[in-house]
Amino acid sequence: MKILILNGSPKGEKSNSLKLTKAFVEGMNEVSDNSTEIVHLQEKNIKGCKGCFVCWKATPGKCVTNDDMTAIIQKIVEADMVIYSFPLYYFSVPGVLKDMIDRMLPMVLPFMEDRTDSVGSGSHPARYDMSGKKFAVISTCGFWSAAGNYDAVRGMFDHICGKGEYEAIFCGQGELFSVPELSERTDEYLGYVRTAGKEYAQGAITADTRAHLGELLYPKEVFEEMADASWGIDRRTGEKAEESLSFTRQMAALYNKNRYDGKDRVLEICYTDLGKTYQIELTKDGSRVLTDGSLTATTRIDTPWQVWKDIAAKKLSGTKALGDHLYTVKGDFSLMIHWDEFFGQDKQYSEPVPKNGALKKPQLAVLLTMWITMWIAVSIDSFVGSIITIGVCALMPIVMFKHEITLYDRLSAACVSALSVFALVTGNSNLACDTGDLAFGLMWLISAFTREPLCAAYVKYNYGGNEALENPLFVRTNKILAAAWGVLYIILAFAAFLMHSAGLNVVSLIVCNGCTALMGVFTVWFEKWYPAHIAEG
Ligand SMILES: Cc1cc2nc3c(=O)[nH]c(=O)nc-3n(C[C@H](O)[C@H](O)[C@H](O)COP(=O)(O)O)c2cc1C
Repeated sequence: MKILILNGSPKGEKSNSLKLTKAFVEGMNEVSDNSTEIVHLQEKNIKGCKGCFVCWKATPGKCVTNDDMTAIIQKIVEADMVIYSFPLYYFSVPGVLKDMIDRMLPMVLPFMEDRTDSVGSGSHPARYDMSGKKFAVISTCGFWSAAGNYDAVRGMFDHICGKGEYEAIFCGQGELFSVPELSERTDEYLGYVRTAGKEYAQGAITADTRAHLGELLYPKEVFEEMADASWGIDRRTGEKAEESLSFTRQMAALYNKNRYDGKDRVLEICYTDLGKTYQIELTKDGSRVLTDGSLTATTRIDTPWQVWKDIAAKKLSGTKALGDHLYTVKGDFSLMIHWDEFFGQDKQYSEPVPKNGALKKPQLAVLLTMWITMWIAVSIDSFVGSIITIGVCALMPIVMFKHEITLYDRLSAACVSALSVFALVTGNSNLACDTGDLAFGLMWLISAFTREPLCAAYVKYNYGGNEALENPLFVRTNKILAAAWGVLYIILAFAAFLMHSAGLNVVSLIVCNGCTALMGVFTVWFEKWYPAHIAEG
């Protein structure tokens, strides 16, 4: 199919609306074979219609003005699909597009005809065969919602293309498509436009995709606060404001008060090279930027201006930059850990269900259950306990049917089963359990020297999945913890062996469980303390 995009944005390639149009066509191209041509109307020589009707009477089909419009009409006639892509200007189309539309007069015959779609009071028959031609109208506008702004546009295209004869995508908050800091959300929206294009090519856009296209990019208040701050103008004086202050205000506007956890916070951010410090108060009612430093900071960030801008624009990973000491954080570190929640928006629609057999995250509890069952059940009764433990290991693949099973789950199941068989055959439960301690410790310790330490394989999902493995701070924290657990269990294995040999079974039980509990407490403390300690620089 031949697709012709008529870009009516004076910004040409930089048009926000064109980003949506391109995404739509990309979606179509996924399922159909198309050639696409974009005509940037702003670059063309298109004069205004003279209203002389020469194209109707003296030279039928030919305009008296000889400019680029002749070629554009030819392209429209030849195209299988025409997409009008433009920004909303004063609740209508930009002048350049209106000029082009007016100059489409030679494309119709002068005769009066009744319309069959009850749009307006009459129409003119087409001069060329337009049957089967498809149309789409794609546009962004600057207000927080497209609703209510496109009445005039709808009315005009109902006349031009026919009511219900064209596809339309109208999106508010259009300027956000040019803000790299917000690309996560705008890319998500463009993804829905791509899906719409694909579904359109397959027959029709589904209700689900239409619902997504109707979503606001950001809630009204968040958008309006960000938009107001983005102009870099002081609201009271109307004068140009400090760039770093406007930027900080936009960041503050993104604060999601729904994520308020009962704790008022004051984020103090110092752009070290600019010598500017601002405070953002984060409360249940929203956020507020202060320039006088009158509050007591709960979290303070010291960062060069460019580093912070690059992080916001996703050119630099915030956690990696922190690990590399490009900026420092003092005080309450929980704000940094949950940054994406505090400064991200709630989903308006539920998360899509994982498709095509995508697996849920692995469960450390399942791995621990196998080991703990062995240590308790086998030490109570080597025969019954071993059978129970083998049964638990056999159940693991069934319980984890819809979950990812890690290498550590497999190793544990194999090791625990083998030790249980050993206890079953020999009746030597102490040796089986002590060897289990040693194997458990070795598995942790060896994992500390791999790319993905044992604990990281499970907790990485709380920190963005595999991306977390690129974060040196995350990996280092987990390596230390994995090594600590490994060393503890290797020591416990030998200690338990000696105690069992001396007949101190109960003492061994108390020492092993006591040490494990203490290590658990240490783990909870360390995984919070260590990143915060490193962040302080
Ligand atoms: C002259 C002018 C008039 C505008 N009129 C409106 C309007 O009536 N309603 C609206 O919501 N946005 C309006 N806007 C904002 C644009 O529609 C918005 O910035 C759009 O996303 C720009 O799209 P583009 O990048 O494709 O050109 C106007 C912008 C300009 C420059």
